[in-house]
Order: sequence, then C-alpha cells, then structure tokens
Amino acid sequence: METIKETCFETLVEKFLGTGFPHHLSGAVSLPDLSPDTQNFILRVLDLMKRSRYSLTGFNPALLRWLSATIPSILPGAWGGRIPPITVQGRHRKLDDYVAGQNFPPDQGQNIFVDIGCGFPPVTTADTAHRFPDWQIYGVDRSFADYVVYETRGHYACFNQEGEFLYFQAFLDFGGRALYADPKGTKNRFNQLFKDLFPLLRNDDTLVSETVEKDGNKLIHHHIKDFETDNLRFIKSDMMDLGPMVAKVIRCMNVFLYFTHDIKKEMLGQIKDHLEDNGFLIIGTNGFGIQSRYAVYQKESDDLSLREFAFSLDNLGHITFIPWLTIHENDPEAMLLAELSGKIRSHPSFWIQCSRHLDQLLEYHGFCKRKTDGFLHFPEEEMLPNDFLEKNSMLWREMQEKGYIKGAVDILGKAGYDAWINSAGDIAVRPPIGALP
Ligand SMILES: C[S@@+](CC[C@H](N)C(=O)[O-])C[C@H]1O[C@@H](n2cnc3c(N)ncnc32)[C@H](O)[C@@H]1O
Repeated sequence: METIKETCFETLVEKFLGTGFPHHLSGAVSLPDLSPDTQNFILRVLDLMKRSRYSLTGFNPALLRWLSATIPSILPGAWGGRIPPITVQGRHRKLDDYVAGQNFPPDQGQNIFVDIGCGFPPVTTADTAHRFPDWQIYGVDRSFADYVVYETRGHYACFNQEGEFLYFQAFLDFGGRALYADPKGTKNRFNQLFKDLFPLLRNDDTLVSETVEKDGNKLIHHHIKDFETDNLRFIKSDMMDLGPMVAKVIRCMNVFLYFTHDIKKEMLGQIKDHLEDNGFLIIGTNGFGIQSRYAVYQKESDDLSLREFAFSLDNLGHITFIPWLTIHENDPEAMLLAELSGKIRSHPSFWIQCSRHLDQLLEYHGFCKRKTDGFLHFPEEEMLPNDFLEKNSMLWREMQEKGYIKGAVDILGKAGYDAWINSAGDIAVRPPIGALP
C-alpha cells in the first residue's frame, strides 16, 4: 500500500474513488496533522471503500469527523499502545439473539458462555448474563481496571492498581466530544479527581467493591465485583493463558481486529480448546450495537469449522465508519465485507432503489438531505448520539421491512454465494475458502 507523504486528503480520496470531491467538504481532514497510524487507517479506509464500490457521493461531514476525530481516539496509539476496553451496554443484543436462535439440544449440565476480551466495565457480558439466566456466563479479559472514576455526567476513566491512568470513555450526549478533543486535559482532570477521591477509600478487602463520592464524582475500587451475579463471574486472564474451561458458546467481539494474521491463528487454536464439541465461537467487529460483521465457527471432531460470515445491512449506509474500521492491513473480515458489499452495490436496479429509499429515510428522520449537487447535507445542529442511535435503528428496521435484507441475500445468491438470513436477522454467507482464518 502506498504511503501518504504530502498528498492532501481530497487528492487521495479522488485517487481511490474518482474525481469530484465536493467543495463544501474540502479541508475537513488535514492529513499532516494526523498521527501516522491514523493516516494509515485512512489509506485502508479508502482501499476498502474502493473494493466495496463505495461512491464518492457517500462522503459526508459525519464520516469525515469520524475519520479525523473519532478514529484517533480508538486506535491503540491513543492509549499508550494498549487495546482500549471500549464497550457499551446493548452492543451485542443481536448476537444474543443469534445464540437464542440456535435451539441447543438439552444439555446434561449447565450451558457455559464465555465472553473473551469482554472489556471494562463489562456491560455487554452483564447483558448476556441477564438474557440467559439459566446459563453460566464468564467474562474474560486480560485487564480489568482496579479503579474507575465516574465524573458527574457519567464519563469515566480507568486506573490500574498503582493509580496510573489507563483509559477514559465519554458520552457524546453529555459534552463528551470536548473531552475527546482535548485528551491531555481530560486525562489531567481525571487524574485530579482520582487524587481527590483516593484518600477517602477505607476498605482493604479485595473481594468486594468500595465506592467513595465527593461533589457528585465517584471513585470505585474493585468495580468488577459490582457486576458479578449468580450466573456471572469474571476471570482476569489473557486468552492464551485461560485455565481449564469448556464452553458451549464463546464470543470474542472487537478483539481480533487488533491482532495480526499469525497471532489470530494462534488465538483461534487456543480458543478451540475451550469449546465443547458442537460448541459455537463468534468472532467479529461491530459498532455500538450496529454495523456488525462476524464469523461463526463450530467445533467438530476437534477442529473449528467455519459455518458462516454474517453482516448487518446497515454496513451499506453512509453515516458509518465501522465497515472501514481496521487496525491492520488486509483485515480478512473487513475485506470480505467489502467484497460482499461490492457485489450488492454493483447490482444496478437493486442498489439504485435501495439508495433512493435510504436517502428518503435519512431525510425523513432528520439526519441529512441529498441535494442537487448529489451530496448529503446535514443540518446545522448536530443530532445527539442517543437520538442518532434511536432514529438509526428505526431507519434500518424500515429498510428491513421493505425487504432489502432479503434483496441483498438474493443478489449474493445469484452471485454464487450460499447466502441466507441468519437468526440475528443479518445477511449470512458460507465464507469462500481461504477468505477468513
Ligand atoms: C475493544 S474491547 C472490546 C470489549 C467487548 N468485547 C465489546 O465488544 O464491547 C477489547 C478488549 O479485549 C481485551 N483483550 C485484548 N487482547 C486480549 C487477550 N489476548 N486476552 C484477553 N483479553 C484481551 C482488552 O483488554 C479489551 O478490554
């Protein structure tokens, strides 16, 4: 892949997607001001866009802001090279639907579900434990922060045992964008809160959590203990060192993308040993409950067999960056998603109708309007993220009801893929041999 050197963003985009970068979006991304890992990220985005037949007219202010502002805070470089524990409640609801849809035969003992790289605070594992009260759920992560500071608006920061700042997560609905815009200042403020609150802690017991509060800000020690319930336990371990444990289902979301091909293969080999015969392994990447792509493996005769690769229709939308989210070159899931999206976008009558309908719904729900210049224009006032998520899910439900998922599956079927709608309501294909590890 080429290097960015002194190329300007607009020229680079045109190189991949064709001429006509719109004036009103020029200057939104300044490549020289971005870190080398973000610059490389953008190169991979453009390569994936080209593969997936993404049109230049899909470019919009939200996409550009994600590329220049959000991505730098997601990449490990922003967190001292650590994989950030980013997660959010409800993120894997559809994957829980997928598991619920499997109708596992009655078992001798209790079903075990392991969420590997569950993130922190482990809210998605807690969701799953709530959803499957008869299962025993384990959340595994190599790092559970020892201390968490929640400031008054709910933004939080994680600290290790030595009180060293690790990570913060902010909610855009409550002024979070300003926190991401000034990561140094945010870190300093959280460090100060930690300093103020730490002396109030009294308890030495490592088996229970302790919360102290001042001026509405909270410090919680051993916060992980707050999430344990009758059917939910946490194990602090690297997946490569996980002790004896055999599960019916293992989920590993938003973890594999951070690793190179060879390490992924090693990790798959290790995870396989923790699956029971016929057990399922779900590995993939998604946004906050949206724009998912994942592979489902099943253990058969001591081997992992790849059952399906699935993705949600919303990966074909415009107000998203998750389909382009990769950390390494040639990310196999992202490449396969691009290939399949490309097939769908190249079907002229389907794609014209689908795009037109999508534009109508984007306008109807107040996201943006496609104007006569062919580009999407956004209102002055930005939609709040919670509003965005709610309207976005309504929009894609409407697209589903209009039959576009079924339409996409038919196109993939005609293009030679074995394709179907899976139990999460996503588009699934039997992956071509060699496409995924
Ligand atoms: C981006 S978070 C994903 C959290 C959650 N699975 C989700 O999808 O919302 C990735 C998490 O994987 C954990 N992780 C990365 N490599 C790991 C490994 N080798 N073993 C266990 N956990 C790992 C990190 O500590 C981090 O908390």
